[in-house]
Amino acid sequence: MSQQPILGFTIRPATVHDLPAVIALERGIAEAAHWPEQEYVAMLQTTPESSVQRRILLAERYGVLQGYAVAKVLRLAGEVNAELENLAVASSARRQGIGRALCEAVMDWCRECEAGEVALEVRIGNAAAIQLYQQAGFRRTALRRGYYLQPPEDALLMKLLLQQE
Ligand SMILES: CC(C)(COP(=O)(O)OP(=O)(O)OC[C@H]1O[C@@H](n2cnc3c(N)ncnc32)[C@H](O)[C@@H]1OP(=O)(O)O)[C@@H](O)C(=O)NCCC(=O)NCCS
Repeated sequence: MSQQPILGFTIRPATVHDLPAVIALERGIAEAAHWPEQEYVAMLQTTPESSVQRRILLAERYGVLQGYAVAKVLRLAGEVNAELENLAVASSARRQGIGRALCEAVMDWCRECEAGEVALEVRIGNAAAIQLYQQAGFRRTALRRGYYLQPPEDALLMKLLLQQE
């Protein structure tokens, strides 16, 4: 994916050199999923031949990280399914379309991987994220009681069927 200016910011896949900035942003956003550094390194080591592929997408403005998304594609028994695992935007950069653009970039990558659908889980109380996902076309599919800890909360499961273009 090449760098494309979208509303003053660009979106591109991360490399290992980007991880310190991603981790610094992630650590400052309580609602984001938190992973150890080795997990991020492993994500960047998946190849198109792996049964599980991961991609970290970055949104930058003037080279400064504003937000990121993490997606996974799983190939199993002839089916290709995808998951949006994480999406986070710096609090100073919210409501400028960055979350939506990252979500769309994830969907584009999932389509490239020929995934039929994208699934995600979100805390039931995370109204901002749920609103964004609904606007992006995700539909509520189930409620998973007590899924999250610290603080305990139910998870809303959402799914988007991808149309191949
Ligand atoms: C959720 C999050 C990624 C949204 O990012 P963002 O860049 O502010 O989102 P966008 O500007 O692209 O907003 C797209 C749409 O989402 C909805 N939305 C975003 N923030 C919202 C809020 N605080 N309240 C209500 N709706 C909101 C709106 O419908 C918005 O469209 P609009 O601005 O035209 O009304 C951001 O708030 C965030 O990083 N939150 C913390 C991390 C998190 O909760 N991640 C999700 C984990 S599952």
